[in-house]
Amino acid sequence: MTNYMNRRIHGLFGGLASLVLAAGVAHASAQPGDWDVGIASPTATNLSHSPHVVEVNIEASVTQLEVRPGLNSPVWTYNGTVPGPVIRAQVGDTLVVHFTNHLPEPTTIHWHGINVPYAMDGVPDMPQPAVAPGGQFTYRFTLDAAGTYWYHPHVNSSAQVGWGLYGALIVDEPQVPKAFGDDLVLVLSDIDIDKDGHLNEAHSMGAFGDLWGREGNTLLVNGKLLPHVKARAGQPQRWRIINASRARYFSFAMPAGSSMRIGTGNRLTERPEKIRRVTLAPAERVELVFTSQAEPGTTALVRWTPIARGYGVEAGDSADILAIDTVAEPKVAAEPLPEHLQDIEPIDISKAVARSLELTIGGDRRSTWMGINGVRYEDQKPIHFALGEKDVWTIVNNTVFDHPFHLHGFAFQVLDEANPTWRDTVNVPRKSSVRVAIDFNERPGMWMFHCHILDHADVGMMGMVHLE
Ligand code: C2O
Ligand code: CU
Repeated sequence: MTNYMNRRIHGLFGGLASLVLAAGVAHASAQPGDWDVGIASPTATNLSHSPHVVEVNIEASVTQLEVRPGLNSPVWTYNGTVPGPVIRAQVGDTLVVHFTNHLPEPTTIHWHGINVPYAMDGVPDMPQPAVAPGGQFTYRFTLDAAGTYWYHPHVNSSAQVGWGLYGALIVDEPQVPKAFGDDLVLVLSDIDIDKDGHLNEAHSMGAFGDLWGREGNTLLVNGKLLPHVKARAGQPQRWRIINASRARYFSFAMPAGSSMRIGTGNRLTERPEKIRRVTLAPAERVELVFTSQAEPGTTALVRWTPIARGYGVEAGDSADILAIDTVAEPKVAAEPLPEHLQDIEPIDISKAVARSLELTIGGDRRSTWMGINGVRYEDQKPIHFALGEKDVWTIVNNTVFDHPFHLHGFAFQVLDEANPTWRDTVNVPRKSSVRVAIDFNERPGMWMFHCHILDHADVGMMGMVHLE
């Protein structure tokens, strides 16, 4: 049984019903009973007894885990696992997270893509200081939009994320179309481990590492090397895919069959659309409905392939990351997806403030800095915004690298998209620009924007919206 069903059934009937189901009484899924056992991550336990409140404990610590077979590695974990537990709630719920830091250095949790109040955003000193070693902090906010989000630190980010600190935060729609099928969260990441199991130095390769971004040598799906998921031919699965790597782009072809994109992580799209290749920059997500059309009893491999995201070079060796076993059971007939998923009301940009933000790289071979409009983060002043203003930002990238641009606190709409979406992160390909519309309609505060190649953010490709 899926964790998702488990949680819903707990909510409806309490633990008894789920025991009965676990004992083998028929349930909604037509997947094989153990379809996600080899791949799914644990779900955080909800400690709350009140409806509409999800309350969880999250502890960060250094934990010895066998990430590569036969090697113990001191990875940085939430609740002892990589990725951390899936936090799961319904739209409209209040999420309460009691966080304890057992790490040897300060940290925070940033709720990537969630429209949190300023005080809950997890950026150190804005306004809360980082959580010191041994310290605690309680995050509390309401989840106002369904989607596939994630959480990660915002202190020494490239290193802390690279060492294993990330997890999924799923906000369920109140009514999930049955045609979406069974729910599966897939957190993609990489980690850099040497032959003895030690983590490689976090800031290796100097200026080159800053420029390219540091990719780990071990590709993981839900913290595992090449895990298997089982599928029944014809029966849909809703894959919620998150790229949680510090710098690596994930690009792979979906196996033959049907894969339909239904969401970007920030709510659903307006309508489903065929997707053959998934390409996710760091921090990007996609939701898709995958329906295996393979011959029962066969296995298909999903293979990571390099893309030209810097200097036009495809760097890195292809690697299989995920296996799909289509079980030896007769194919079933899938219910068709709804043609329309939801309306996405366009942000009214008739009186929008137009701003241009140029992503810049400076320095030389020995030392690199990055910035916004030619100024690195340390030397910038926050840009002033008036509460209630609507904006159109043109994000200009004249560099030879792609940069995934991320804004805290406000999902935006990418202009000029045929099938409109909400997003919080958008890849800006090299030598190009992207226009986004943003409605700064609420929640005054200081909101960061930055490149989500975290090595780029660390050397200054960040900026600050001061909204009041
Ligand atoms: Cu996902 Cu400022 O971060
Ligand atoms: Cu960048």
